[in-house]
Amino acid sequence: MTPETEAKTQAGANGEVGQRDTLSVTDNRTGRSYEVEITDGTVKAMDFRQMKVSDEDFGLMTYDPAYTNTASCRSSVTFIDGDAGILEYRGYPIEQLAESSTYLEVAYLLVHGELPDQAQLDEWTHQITIHTFVHENVKAFMQGFRHDAHPMGMLLGSVGALSTFYPDANEIKDPENRYLQTIRLIAKMPTLAAFAFRHSNGQPYVYPDNDLAYPGNFLGMLYKMTELKYEPDPRLARALDILFILHADHEQNCSTSAVRSVGSSQVDPYSAVAAGIAALYGPLHGGANEAVLRMLRRIERTENIPDFIAGVKEGDERLMGFGHRVYKNYDPRAKIIKTAAEDVFEVTGTNPLLDIALELERIALEDDYFVERKLYPNVDFYSGLIYEALGMPVSMFPVMFAIPRTSGWIAQWLEMVQDDEQKIARPRQIYTGARERDYVPVDQR
Ligand code: CMC
Repeated sequence: MTPETEAKTQAGANGEVGQRDTLSVTDNRTGRSYEVEITDGTVKAMDFRQMKVSDEDFGLMTYDPAYTNTASCRSSVTFIDGDAGILEYRGYPIEQLAESSTYLEVAYLLVHGELPDQAQLDEWTHQITIHTFVHENVKAFMQGFRHDAHPMGMLLGSVGALSTFYPDANEIKDPENRYLQTIRLIAKMPTLAAFAFRHSNGQPYVYPDNDLAYPGNFLGMLYKMTELKYEPDPRLARALDILFILHADHEQNCSTSAVRSVGSSQVDPYSAVAAGIAALYGPLHGGANEAVLRMLRRIERTENIPDFIAGVKEGDERLMGFGHRVYKNYDPRAKIIKTAAEDVFEVTGTNPLLDIALELERIALEDDYFVERKLYPNVDFYSGLIYEALGMPVSMFPVMFAIPRTSGWIAQWLEMVQDDEQKIARPRQIYTGARERDYVPVDQR
């Protein structure tokens, strides 16, 4: 921020436009003008604090409920261009990663910032694989949940509880310690998720099989019954791995902001990630794909689609799985998921709801209402259909999201704890309540 200056609003008039990366602001309450620096397309909210009507005045604040236009950090993890429909992890397009990479390699990329060479990938995979088991007391702890406990609630509770199993995880200034917790979180999340699933089915928990790769091992922990060795269908394991890649990170969404915000208090990463899981539990975040399935079931037949679309246009309902706060174009993840869905249905047999989904998409993409508002399918339009085909109840959908998002949360957390510009998150408020009232004893109220 430069010191208070003469009004710069004449800049346009005298031909200086484009010469300085600053913003001129005139406070019409005082007639004073200020010049605020623009860096990376942003102005600093704190630069407005000096704009006061008197010395006693606190100074101007910015008001941004839901942070719709506030950058809360600098990040080099994930790039999104919502208008162009671009998503990149560390600069690599999501399409290339989904086509050629594996989830564990992508997790390495998110955490380290670079793709691993073969030796690094082998070591990373080995480390994750040997940390998949949880302490037996974690198992006992999970068995204490009610028989019908929501698996996401179980995941939330048990990840939070991990902080008590690894009390040294609060040494967040130690890079080696942070790395160990990073490995543990990515490794144990499928185990906890599968235990929660088996619990809600009343089935015994299945221990990890370290001969299997990450997605195949997860399928085994979900579905293994009496067979001595579970052999995952490679096509299902690959489809699951692609879903994991697509969900691994999405920059500063609600759950990632929760991880960063809670983590800014310097709490251990298990507690911070538990906050992310709590945020993801909400229907507006991790639950939209469940709403898509309910919508498709309600539509029931392709013949009913025109009536349904008419209801959406009249504002009676929403086309779930369409529209996005950031993407004003086809969500790049939706395209990839659509192909993965076809691969899964080859193995599991088709889901009649898919025909309704495809027809809905076709009609909506040609309809002026959706075209004008730039409403395109988002990642949730097809993911629920895949999870259902894999035998998941809808209560598992947010859990399926939390497993891969763990690598994104932890990559963002690692970035945050090493960022000198960050400190404890502490927003301001506009106070709207009463002031300076005298206490009245209860018998006089
Ligand atoms: N169906 C019908 N109309 C819609 C929809 C929809 N799905 N989404 C937005 N609109 C309309 C909305 O009514 C508004 O119209 P108008 O200008 O006439 O008032 C216009 O489009 C702009 O919508 P908005 O509500 O201002 O957009 P938003 O950025 O606040 O909301 C959204 C984004 C995702 C919450 C919304 O599109 C929505 O509710 N979609 C359905 C739920 C869904 O699929 N959510 C999953 C999002 S992807 C998850 C992830 O990335 O983690």
